[in-house]
Amino acid sequence: MTHRVLIIDDEEGIREMLAEILLDEGYETAAAASVSDARKRLETESFDLALLDVWLPDGDGIDLLQEMRSGLFEQPVVVVSGHANIDTAVKATRLGAFDFLEKPLSLSRVVLTVQHALEQTRMQRELQDLSNRLEKRESLVGDSEPMEQLSEMLATAAQADSRILISGENGTGKELVARQIHRLSKRSSHPFVAVNCAAIPEELIESELFGHVKGAFTGASSDRQGRFQQADGGTLFLDEIADMSLKTQAKVLRVLEEQRFEPVGDTKAVEVDVRVLAATNKNLLEEIDAGNFREDLYFRLAVIPLRVPSLNERRDDIPILTEHFLEHFARELGRPVKRPSQDVLETLSNHDWPGNVRELRNLMERLMIMTPGETIELADLPASVRGPSPHPFSALDGESFGSLKEARDAFERHYIAQQLAACEGNVTRTAQVLGVERSNLHRKLKTYGLGAHGASPDPK
Ligand SMILES: Nc1ncnc2c1ncn2[C@@H]1O[C@H](COP(=O)(O)OP(=O)(O)OP(=O)(O)O)[C@@H](O)[C@H]1O
Ligand SMILES: [Mg+2]
Repeated sequence: MTHRVLIIDDEEGIREMLAEILLDEGYETAAAASVSDARKRLETESFDLALLDVWLPDGDGIDLLQEMRSGLFEQPVVVVSGHANIDTAVKATRLGAFDFLEKPLSLSRVVLTVQHALEQTRMQRELQDLSNRLEKRESLVGDSEPMEQLSEMLATAAQADSRILISGENGTGKELVARQIHRLSKRSSHPFVAVNCAAIPEELIESELFGHVKGAFTGASSDRQGRFQQADGGTLFLDEIADMSLKTQAKVLRVLEEQRFEPVGDTKAVEVDVRVLAATNKNLLEEIDAGNFREDLYFRLAVIPLRVPSLNERRDDIPILTEHFLEHFARELGRPVKRPSQDVLETLSNHDWPGNVRELRNLMERLMIMTPGETIELADLPASVRGPSPHPFSALDGESFGSLKEARDAFERHYIAQQLAACEGNVTRTAQVLGVERSNLHRKLKTYGLGAHGASPDPK
């Protein structure tokens, strides 16, 4: 893509010289000799960069710069002046000029500055794009009543610097909630550090949390910073808190009380300023009763308790989550997005989701990869989600049969068709389910006119 540069300068010689070298470098240029001329061009054309002289016949370049910055032109502006003084340079920089060049101009310097400015703009745009995508990926999707309530509480709780205990079933989005709290908090420009207490072996957790000094234990070959220290100024997310041993709980409790601790093997205390968020899918009150969790630690952690509702409690969100994940995976796989049919949406909305949002998300990833068409149909859903088939007798309702053989055949035909569909058309699996030989099943399918036509087609 060719970049367009606007040259704003009252001296014809300078305009021509700049146009020439920029052209040589592969840029397109346009020129304006006055403020009004520049304004007109900026309003009607688009440019990727402007070179702006300070002294113009009908006004001050710095005033024009200010006007440009307040909405007329958002791309980089390089200010050029033959009457440079520090004041102007400072003012130009403060107003957001990319750079300030003095006349007489060094041509190589001009070219370099233009290159840098364009490169920096490109990188900023990419970064912005990336962070928008990240933000979208990390945002809590859902506008059901329970989610609205959660978002409201979350926004308020985030502002206070208090500790928050996030509870909820597996895959409900507890970690996402923790990240959101951090993002909305005063600590957002500092680190967010997550520790999964269940994933770290008991003998390593203290060193993981508090760090250690060289030689503190076998294998500690150098000093290591702990998570508490890494999160200094920011937020530490203790996930699966119920999986921490009582001994570690005691140490964590002390840090929460004193905001200081000693790394393993060290006697010098380290002071930190950390906000702790904790999460669990267990009922901590029951864990306290069972003697597995310290009550005093519970009260320290649960200054504000937040419960993330299960997906079954907010079925209204299922369609919007479904589309959100389909779009997400389409982007990630670089494929066109697929849409669910109406009956698929209904089936998903009525399904029981023990694995909550994570389970729905995984299913959408699978469907994005495995579904051949643009629309996801009922037959594309795994049998476990399509739900139990209607009772085989129900399809025979209202039919009348003469002989016992007729009735038996009608039932057999229907039952085989149903099991075949449940096995997604896989004959071998259907034969196993029915407890018959594969060849025998094939014969029956032929007799009853089933198989590729009678049920959903064999995908293999
Ligand atoms: N409301 C939501 N909107 C969008 N994505 C969500 C939502 N809730 C959860 N997710 C996604 O579902 C997945 C599971 O969420 P997360 O890891 O936060 O759950 P969790 O409650 O911490 O689960 P676990 O108890 O298993 O650790 C993540 O990929 C997350 O991005
Ligand atoms: Mg989690």
